Amino acid sequence: MLLTTSLLSLISATSAFNLPSPQRLFTNPSKEDSHAYSIPTVHESAVQARRILRLESIGTLSTVFPTTPHSTEQRPLDVSGAPIGLMDYFGDCEPSTGNPTILAITIATSFKNVDAGSNITLSLRWHPQDSQWRSPASLPRFSLVGRLEDLSPEDVTKNLVPACYIGYHKDAAWWLPGNRIHQSKWVRLVVEEVYWIGGFGDRAYIGWIPLEEWQSVTPEEIESISLPGEKKKGWGGWREWVGMGEAPEVFEL
Ligand SMILES: *[C@@H]1O[C@H](CO)[C@@H](O)[C@H](O)[C@H]1NC(C)=O
Repeated sequence: MLLTTSLLSLISATSAFNLPSPQRLFTNPSKEDSHAYSIPTVHESAVQARRILRLESIGTLSTVFPTTPHSTEQRPLDVSGAPIGLMDYFGDCEPSTGNPTILAITIATSFKNVDAGSNITLSLRWHPQDSQWRSPASLPRFSLVGRLEDLSPEDVTKNLVPACYIGYHKDAAWWLPGNRIHQSKWVRLVVEEVYWIGGFGDRAYIGWIPLEEWQSVTPEEIESISLPGEKKKGWGGWREWVGMGEAPEVFEL
């Protein structure tokens, strides 16, 4: 009885929300399968991913704990080698490269793990801006595998990095490099691999996006598409800051 009820509700959810059959939720169909949707190409998926990088600003940094605890730290020994994913800010502040910019706080676990030799990934997902309900499993998300590299003072100036970053994160003004509270520095995640889940496997590409596809996305392509539930107007992103001419007060920190 219970089973029947849940089956019935699954069937009605499937038709109400247009869900795929369960075996297509997380895999692409094989070539021979006929399917009703045309799946975006790998390059179209790369364009979506680059637009998500442009419009989102918070993700998860995943690193691995080193064998030896950081010198200043008390921690359980058995976390050696365990992965930890922690929320962090990023900004698309070197937009011609697709390498996200991060304000790295020296004492934060993610950056201490990297200093101790860990690899790092940034995972992000698209959050629709309208109020329509969508299955979160139907929405694009991806992970950028890469390494951290310091921005030179020239990179910071040339790309107006502080204005860009504060355009995404007003509060980050409090921990810009040179502040009196935390040691911080500008880094870029140099993207080396991209793993993409565009949504349900019967209508979205799931798999690796070659680096050339990620890097070859043009600004025009990023501007030309809309993501599910995206509101085109009222983003209020960093270009508004750049347009203001005068540096905001927060630069004084
Ligand atoms: C980092 O990843 C590389 C492969 O890209 C691997 O050879 C290396 O062992 C990894 N480092 C750590 C500390 O896990």
